[in-house]
Amino acid sequence: MQRFMKPSWLLLAVIVIALAITGWQHRPSSAPKEAIVDHNGVALSALAIEGHETFKKNCARCHGEYATGTNSGPPLIHDIYNPGHHGDGAFYRAVRQGSPQHHWNFGNMPPQPQVSDAEIASIIRYIRETQVANGIVYKKHVM
Ligand code: HEC
Repeated sequence: MQRFMKPSWLLLAVIVIALAITGWQHRPSSAPKEAIVDHNGVALSALAIEGHETFKKNCARCHGEYATGTNSGPPLIHDIYNPGHHGDGAFYRAVRQGSPQHHWNFGNMPPQPQVSDAEIASIIRYIRETQVANGIVYKKHVM
């Protein structure tokens, strides 16, 4: 009896450790990028839907169809772009003047002169509503 105790405890320990490791790996990572797609089922306003169409045509190749980022540009559905840190003015500036690389390593954003002010306003609606749907809200910028 005593002779078998030790190996079975060892086996149990191995199983527990294996479960702990696989369980750990299957836990969602702290930044579940795939969860931040679309607007989480929240209905967008008509202006935001319009903005999304304009966004897909002019911004998605770098920022992604749902503004979750690509290999060429950052996600805009990201806490960095909450309205307290990047207000609506940052969108007009980025589209008009481009944005030099400063937060990420994707290089510079070139200006997008083909996009009108009214279209930028609708894009901002799309981004803000999608941010709110993903829990990204105004935070006072402290630096
Ligand atoms: C050619 C790729 C590309 C396109 C097209 C593009 N962007 Fe960008 N954008 C970037 C990159 C790269 C950055 C990040 C710069 C940094 O902070 O390092 C950026 C940053 C931004 C920022 C943050 C600016 C800031 O103040 O930090 C906004 C807002 C933005 N883009 C909006 C847009 C909108 C709206 C469109 C479409 C009209 C668009 N972008 C199209 C590449 C692009």
